Amino acid sequence: MRTLYIIGTGGFAKEVAQLAHEINLAFAHWDALAYLSETPAEVGKPMPFGSVVGTDDILKDLSTPADVAVGIGSPRLRAKLGSSLMPLPSLRFPNLIHPANPINADHVLLGVGNIVTRGAVFTCDIKVGDLNVFNLNSTVGHDTTIGSFNVINPGTNVSGGVSIGDRCLFGTGSQVLEGISIANGSTIGAGAVVVKDVDRENLTLVGIPAKPLNAT
Ligand SMILES: CC(C)(COP(=O)(O)OP(=O)(O)OC[C@H]1O[C@@H](n2cnc3c(N)ncnc32)[C@H](O)[C@@H]1OP(=O)(O)O)[C@@H](O)C(=O)NCCC(=O)NCCS
Repeated sequence: MRTLYIIGTGGFAKEVAQLAHEINLAFAHWDALAYLSETPAEVGKPMPFGSVVGTDDILKDLSTPADVAVGIGSPRLRAKLGSSLMPLPSLRFPNLIHPANPINADHVLLGVGNIVTRGAVFTCDIKVGDLNVFNLNSTVGHDTTIGSFNVINPGTNVSGGVSIGDRCLFGTGSQVLEGISIANGSTIGAGAVVVKDVDRENLTLVGIPAKPLNAT
């Protein structure tokens, strides 16, 4: 019995289950999709394509290897879960890639646990770390390097030669121009266009051109 455990029970977790279901339709990969909640009261609750089977804690006590996907859309929480769960030897973090947009492994180097939903496109010579989200119709251009635990929301366009750190959030429809560097923990507002390097960590930028929130 091969189960994919999905951490989370919110909207993004349901979308991850839908992605896994669509992967299953193409490749029959998992026998069951099982959600994990942080709330014991949710155990047993039916969810799309599966149900809540336990709390996150069960992952620490599994006796057999298990596949895990992080169904949480917060970069900070993805990083927290990644650092506590990725060292556990029984857990595997497969890349979940929508079958309609396969990734050419000769040109795109992916770590583990990345979620790549329908319509997300990568071109060539791209390096990506672990546990990132590339949501619907986002694009990543040539020679770009992306760290870990980033969440790239729908319709975001990352141009060529960009460098992105860890734990960044890209709001829906945001744009990053070519050659830009973006520091760890940046939040780019929905619809923003990043035209200059973001050197300071943990800033929120909005607008066109994107500027720090308290400076607009
Ligand atoms: C940028 C963002 C993170 C700021 O969130 P926040 O810190 O809670 O900020 P607030 O909503 O309190 O807004 C603060 C100010 O910024 C403005 N603002 C917020 N988001 C903005 C955006 N994307 N572009 C331009 N201005 C924005 C607000 O109008 C407000 O202005 P005011 O002070 O003059 O009224 C958030 O608005 C955003 O864009 N998140 C992305 C969400 C997303 O992509 N969701 C898709 C999920 S699939």
